[in-house]
Amino acid sequence: MKTDLIDRFPSVHDLSLVARKRIPHFAWEHLDSGTGEEAALDLNRASFNAIRIVPQFLNVKIAPSLGTRVFDQEFQAPFGIAPVGATGLLWPGGEHILAEAAAVHGIPYCLSAVACETPESVGPIARGRGWFQLYPPKDRSIRDDLIRRARESGFTALIVTVDVPEYGMRERQRRAGLRNPPRLTLSTVLQMAARPSWTTATLLHGAPRFRTLEKYAGNTDRAQAAHFVLHELNAAADGTYLKEIRDQWDGPLILKGILHPDDARKAITLGVDGIIVSNHGGRQFDATPASIQALPGIVAAVGGATTIILDSGVRTGLDIVRAILLGADFVLLGRAFLYGVAALGVKGGDHVARLLKEDTTNNMRQLGVASFDALRHMRVDTAWRVEPCDAS
Ligand code: FNR
Repeated sequence: MKTDLIDRFPSVHDLSLVARKRIPHFAWEHLDSGTGEEAALDLNRASFNAIRIVPQFLNVKIAPSLGTRVFDQEFQAPFGIAPVGATGLLWPGGEHILAEAAAVHGIPYCLSAVACETPESVGPIARGRGWFQLYPPKDRSIRDDLIRRARESGFTALIVTVDVPEYGMRERQRRAGLRNPPRLTLSTVLQMAARPSWTTATLLHGAPRFRTLEKYAGNTDRAQAAHFVLHELNAAADGTYLKEIRDQWDGPLILKGILHPDDARKAITLGVDGIIVSNHGGRQFDATPASIQALPGIVAAVGGATTIILDSGVRTGLDIVRAILLGADFVLLGRAFLYGVAALGVKGGDHVARLLKEDTTNNMRQLGVASFDALRHMRVDTAWRVEPCDAS
């Protein structure tokens, strides 16, 4: 009898072990690494695990519902797929695999402008579940054209990422020989030869390229596209810049990369609909707090005034429960979904969505809460022990 995938790979960690053996070392380092000494990367995980929650068992029988409404859209679960640049380097056509999984599972898929597939090809697959992510282009006409393409391709929300004033040091990627544009060296060729399924799939699909941006960067010249990505996408997203975006984009506008309560307050005055509390998965500035540590301060500053989404370090259904308990409206996961796609190819996105739904439901049952509203009403004390509020 065929074993169900969920029994073979019941956690994201299982998928990461397979992914590491299935993709070349440089691609693995692109996906898995942080920056500096990876203190922020480690802290993201440690901070989730430090949150202890006291369960209750004498409640009525509980059938938790995962359905969540954000930005006037219904989703089947309170999580979505974070934007990941150069997804096609991790698995060819990864963007299409993830967009399909999002459509099937009723969750959002965020397409990065620096991914390898275009909004025109991904939008129809996402079937209304696509959100488009932009690093702010210096050239406003390029920015405006990207926004138009996202709208015409059916993306329903626009994310502007503000936490990359410059690309992080990413020492592990450099050591592995990953360059922008990618270069074939003896080392990278040997790494690819050791991973035949990735290499065959990549040869069939075509080498990873920044397809969305090529038209602005000198067509298919990979060196020019790489230069564009590194140097032209870090405009200061100040009030004027964001107001111009606001004027063109009718749908939900979300700022990604907020950690400071003052930035959260400012975001609201700039007219955005949501913020993503994130330290970019520990890939940019190694001294940041974990985003889950920053969350309560931001909820205290702006909770109720805007939609608060959290990412960075989320790997399990329990982490999703913890984030909602501390006040997040919604959660995104980057690496978790990409470990899945790198490990299982076309089945990867579907598998991760399925296991996270099951794990989230399971943990709500263990905890004894039936709804996310009830979760949010639990009391959090300073020692990170969380108990139910008094009924009074
Ligand atoms: C990212 N992230 C990211 N963010 C963004 O706004 N645009 C992008 O193009 C990328 N690219 C990217 C590539 C890779 C390989 C990773 C791992 C991450 C950050 C991403 O959206 C998200 O904030 C983090 O991935 C969240 O942390 P976890 O879930 O990976 O721990």
